[in-house]
Amino acid sequence: MTEPQSLAGGPSRPGGPRAAANHAPAAASAVDLTKVHGSGDARVVALERVSVSFREGEFAAIMGPSGSGKSTLLQCLAGLESCTSGAARIGDTDLTRLSDGQLTRLRRDHVGFVFQAFHLIPTLTVSENIALPLTLAGRTPDRQWLDTLVEAAGLGARLGHRPAQLSGGQQQRVACVRALAGRPRIVFADEPTGNLDSRSAAEILALLRRCVRELGQTVVMVTHDPVAASYADRVVFLADGRIVDELLGPTPDQVLGRMRTFDANLGISYWSGPA
Ligand SMILES: Nc1ncnc2c1ncn2[C@@H]1O[C@H](COP(=O)(O)OP(=O)(O)OP(=O)(O)O)[C@@H](O)[C@H]1O
Ligand SMILES: [Mg+2]
Repeated sequence: MTEPQSLAGGPSRPGGPRAAANHAPAAASAVDLTKVHGSGDARVVALERVSVSFREGEFAAIMGPSGSGKSTLLQCLAGLESCTSGAARIGDTDLTRLSDGQLTRLRRDHVGFVFQAFHLIPTLTVSENIALPLTLAGRTPDRQWLDTLVEAAGLGARLGHRPAQLSGGQQQRVACVRALAGRPRIVFADEPTGNLDSRSAAEILALLRRCVRELGQTVVMVTHDPVAASYADRVVFLADGRIVDELLGPTPDQVLGRMRTFDANLGISYWSGPA
């Protein structure tokens, strides 16, 4: 392994060891996936015939304007939302063909999810929240790995606290550690650095990269931040429920350039906050 030990280091540059298994099998894919929310006047086409594949051992970022369908895509791929038509797959398994019980087991054993709104259990401590998915699955937590995650996320002094006693950024870090605790085959993260300062964000991103490099996990992360996206092997751009472009081995400047091009060409804004 050539992975640097420091978790606070920046992203590796294109051409480096990030060149993840280009011919690896798909860890997750959408095939002609359409998702319609609501009906009648409230009908919204959130995704329209999206086909995209994420390889095993790939760190991918999904970007796009607010409302472009990023969270919906992540939730359909993770089996948290049903597909209106088309398919969502984890490995070779078509989620649309599974029973509720099969889907629950597949999610429990193979999928980690970091929600945009954290979804921590308010009555449980940080430590209990982190271990909950493993406890529910009847698995024994790997203490050494949990310690590594907790230390990397800077949560060592907060393990006995409840979510309401934490800042937004700390809650976000607990959500990340919880998703990574069971070493799932694939981790979906919806804006995992959205509430973090740049130093904490760098640590979480380095941790996600380390999971990809050292454990061969697949990470699919939604972000609005060009710097966060530059940690990924590939950026997939969504607009209006469709994939409009992708960028391999992205640098922050390249991502920014692409976002500005979309703004100019499509009359949309990628900015969720001040530029
Ligand atoms: N449960 C729902 N019911 C109805 N419409 C929904 C629902 N969830 C999402 N939508 C709509 O689907 C579209 C895509 O939403 P989604 O949350 O996937 O966007 P997003 O790209 O993640 O946006 P953001 O960057 O603001 O998080 C939006 O127009 C949204 O209003
Ligand atoms: Mg979203």
